[in-house]
Amino acid sequence: MNPPMSSTVPPLRPAGHGTEYRLSDLLQRHRAGDAVFVTDDVVSYCGGHDPLLYTAHRDVLLPRTACETNWFADLVEYQPGQLPGGELIRSTGHWNTPTQLEIFQTLTGRVLMLAAWRTSSGEPVLTCQTCEAGEMAVIPFGGWHLTLVLDGPAAVFNFYSDLPAETAPPHQAPAAGDRGKYRRAAAVELTAVRAREGFAITGSADSLAVWGVAQPVSEPAWLRDIVAGTGLPDFYSNADSATLAALVAHARRQVPVCHRTDPR
Ligand SMILES: [Fe+2]
Repeated sequence: MNPPMSSTVPPLRPAGHGTEYRLSDLLQRHRAGDAVFVTDDVVSYCGGHDPLLYTAHRDVLLPRTACETNWFADLVEYQPGQLPGGELIRSTGHWNTPTQLEIFQTLTGRVLMLAAWRTSSGEPVLTCQTCEAGEMAVIPFGGWHLTLVLDGPAAVFNFYSDLPAETAPPHQAPAAGDRGKYRRAAAVELTAVRAREGFAITGSADSLAVWGVAQPVSEPAWLRDIVAGTGLPDFYSNADSATLAALVAHARRQVPVCHRTDPR
């Protein structure tokens, strides 16, 4: 496998200020039953501090249309530090749609990507990937995923598309503006806390029993081969249709597919 392109990814400077998400926003989503699991220490936090967790820049690069589908790009700038009780600064976490191809690259800092899905026989699979600057990760089709900050501040770029069915004619591709980004299902009740060795995965007893020990994974070699000697933002902006078609073809063959979304 080729090594990640540490320190070779140019910075991505968003044009706007982005949308800030604080601890209170995370708790609000959790209390609203919005498919968000957080540790008990965070739920019961009564302090007056409301730290900024991250700033999201949606459509940080212009949307594209290629390979009979629409492509979108975001940048999330995570803060350093940790939540009450030691939970890592983190994203909200969600289930992707079954057709969504989503690829991440850490631009600065270091993050932990958790992903969960079920195989065609229903077996639960949980993976963890420590992403240094330059390293990429791809989310299983229909999988649940959560980003946590190991070394912040951390900037994480991603692009995504809801791919059309392989036999669907072009007019059936998702229309522009149909983001389809979130599919609501109960959260996988897992997260990670700071630990002596870096992090420890924790969660509800049910989820820990079902999902077991996370399998460490690393950047897919096929993805590095396609993105080649550029950063993911440059790839997103400049890859021609043939290159994006190759990306889609490889992803259809290589990326796991989640067959059920049972959270426990
Ligand atoms: Fe996603």
